[in-house]
Amino acid sequence: MDGDNEPCSELGTKEYWDKTYQLEINNFQSHGDVGEEWFGEDSAMRVVKWLNAYEKVTKGSKIIDIGCGNGMLLSLMAEEEYENLLGVDYSQHAINLASSVANKMALNISFKVWDILSAESCPGDVPFDVALDKGTYDAIGLSSNGAEDRKTYITKVHSILTPDGILVLTSCNYTEDELESQFSERFTKLSRIPAPTFKFGGREGSLISSLILRKIN
Ligand SMILES: C[S@@+](CC[C@H](N)C(=O)[O-])C[C@H]1O[C@@H](n2cnc3c(N)ncnc32)[C@H](O)[C@@H]1O
Repeated sequence: MDGDNEPCSELGTKEYWDKTYQLEINNFQSHGDVGEEWFGEDSAMRVVKWLNAYEKVTKGSKIIDIGCGNGMLLSLMAEEEYENLLGVDYSQHAINLASSVANKMALNISFKVWDILSAESCPGDVPFDVALDKGTYDAIGLSSNGAEDRKTYITKVHSILTPDGILVLTSCNYTEDELESQFSERFTKLSRIPAPTFKFGGREGSLISSLILRKIN
């Protein structure tokens, strides 16, 4: 999926996410359900474990989660005692949900509204050592202007990272090879986080790609 004729879907619209998080915050308030964790809790755990083992990341590293949704990935990070965490999302409802969940869990995480594709500068303390993305690049690629929006996203993420900053990108819409190629002008692949594989038609593959991409200066 590298061309201009990518499929678009309602998952690429802000209206969809606003509606989703409006419902999810109602559910959270009425019975404490935090809502959907994209790609499951295991995939978030794999990201946290990888970061724990990476020597250049410390508990004080500045970390941003782009398109944080309900903020559960950052909640896991805070439970692992990471101290400098910011979640951004273009949906105010997502930010309300994420803030409520973190408050209830007594976790110290900042959450701010930000559309990464907009001309507005990042509301956090730029630059960041680590950017996290679980499903946001996928959603952006599903907008009606997906191919262009993905390029804008890549330029934006590059601009908010320190010179040896990394992007930890988890996707189910693109293969590792596709991601590597799409990011190749501004990022180089540092590592990958192995995900469970499946076999189909005699070939083995993975449904989820988690790549660590390091900024090229
Ligand atoms: C598939 S959900 C993933 C949510 C969360 N990262 C998770 O793993 O549960 C995609 C998220 O990206 C957010 N999003 C989409 N486009 C965005 C943009 N241009 N700027 C900021 N957030 C965006 C949506 O509001 C939604 O929360």
